[in-house]
Amino acid sequence: MSKTLKFLLWSFLALLLLQIGFGEKCGSKSSEPMVKQTQVKGRKYKVEVMNKCPMCPIINLRLKCQGFPQSLVDPTLLRVLSSSTGNCVVNDGLPLSPMETLSFNYSNSHQLALRPLSWSFQCE
Ligand SMILES: *[C@@H]1O[C@H](CO)[C@@H](O)[C@H](O)[C@H]1NC(C)=O
Repeated sequence: MSKTLKFLLWSFLALLLLQIGFGEKCGSKSSEPMVKQTQVKGRKYKVEVMNKCPMCPIINLRLKCQGFPQSLVDPTLLRVLSSSTGNCVVNDGLPLSPMETLSFNYSNSHQLALRPLSWSFQCE
């Protein structure tokens, strides 16, 4: 095996271990990000996205957002990356602090489904 390949392999393994280590901190079900929607009045809905990990900022939080039009929300809060696959990113992928809630409202004739799809924790 070449030296470069070995180096790459070890780097990959180290990264993998690091990831697993990080995951342990907020890997439990109760630390998964939460998306809560409440009807404020009539056609107005309030969305709260919360980083429920008490230790680590959350980054690159993606939501499943099938059929959610970009026109309903400021893209810096929720950016529709692909409307066909329903992939949205919260806060442009930037960190939400531990236990921080990001909130926005939208108006529509019915509630649009939003649920956590993927995310990473940025632990110390
Ligand atoms: C959403 O609407 C509610 C009720 O009208 C209001 O109290 C709240 O400040 C709004 N939130 C945002 C982020 O605009």
